[in-house]
Amino acid sequence: MVSYKELGLVNTKEMFAKAIKGGYAIPAFNFNNMEQLQAIIKAAAETKSPVILQVSKGARNYANQTLLQYMAQGAVEYAKELGWEKPQICLHLDHGDSFETCKSCVDFGFSSVMIDGSHLPYEENIALTKKVVEYAHAHDVTVEAELGVLAGVEDEVSAAESHYTKPEEVVDFATRTGCDSLAISIGTSHGAYKFTREQCTVDPQTGKLVPPPLAFDILDAIMEQLPGFPIVLHGSSSVPQEYVDIINQYGGKLPDAVGIPEEQLRKASESAVCKINIDSDSRLAFTAAVRKVFATNPGEFDPRKYCGPARDLMTELYKHKIINVLGSNGKAE
Ligand code: G3H
Ligand code: 13P
Ligand code: ZN
Repeated sequence: MVSYKELGLVNTKEMFAKAIKGGYAIPAFNFNNMEQLQAIIKAAAETKSPVILQVSKGARNYANQTLLQYMAQGAVEYAKELGWEKPQICLHLDHGDSFETCKSCVDFGFSSVMIDGSHLPYEENIALTKKVVEYAHAHDVTVEAELGVLAGVEDEVSAAESHYTKPEEVVDFATRTGCDSLAISIGTSHGAYKFTREQCTVDPQTGKLVPPPLAFDILDAIMEQLPGFPIVLHGSSSVPQEYVDIINQYGGKLPDAVGIPEEQLRKASESAVCKINIDSDSRLAFTAAVRKVFATNPGEFDPRKYCGPARDLMTELYKHKIINVLGSNGKAE
């Protein structure tokens, strides 16, 4: 058993309280490998932004739990080496699917866990979340829960709407579970294909797909029910067209990829939404940079020569998100 405090990590309590008050959001970036971790820490250190390092169950299996613990500790030390005197770094389990997975993460040095019971019947979601909260809070680890189901790309608009978080349930859910933050469904979804062609309109000038707006009315109703309570948005990649174009130019095939427009995320960041999850954009940046090197220099076989540019592009992406979208720069001086 190792406490996250020994690793130099922090939980989300103070980060979220400050973010809600200050009208900005904390970036939660997923990572699976060293280059992503380096890029996230460099971006956070250079902008002095609090940051959540997010690990999915798949990433945990990919990276190895023991190695992950030392990577997180290494991230804190790396941040200091970069001149960030008091790094505010949280290590968070993304989409924990069972009490056992959450417990194992708490025991291995995570400072925050998500228990995703959103696919369960309401009472079962409450029971599971409450069990995780009891264990996590005993170790001063914060817990994110989820209510409402994020739309899948195959959903019809009507089906997607019917899975939105129900504002009338949030007080009962938050009170009975004791969770520290709540992930809600207001129209975001995971991956690089967030909306079908039919769900979008077409910009007559550029011919590009314009996605439907997020359900800000539902967000407002939730905030009215739970004033000042930390809200989380999953599935918040914007799927930058420039990366999609590079990928497609150099042999990739990502037709009609579409994400959440940045101005909508900026607006959400100013509200009680204090954690915004971004994974796919980093995957796109990584892939775009690697594809470009492979296509323009087919003789290259040194991984540092293609993972290096990928790392640079991801660093640029993370800094852009922090400064221009979430507004968390300078909040962890
Ligand atoms: O929410 C999902 C994240 O993007 C993690 O994806 O399960 O493929 O690691 P993953
Ligand atoms: P994206 O697929 O939009 O990056 O969402 C990531 C996410 O929500 C991780 O939990
Ligand atoms: Zn997610």
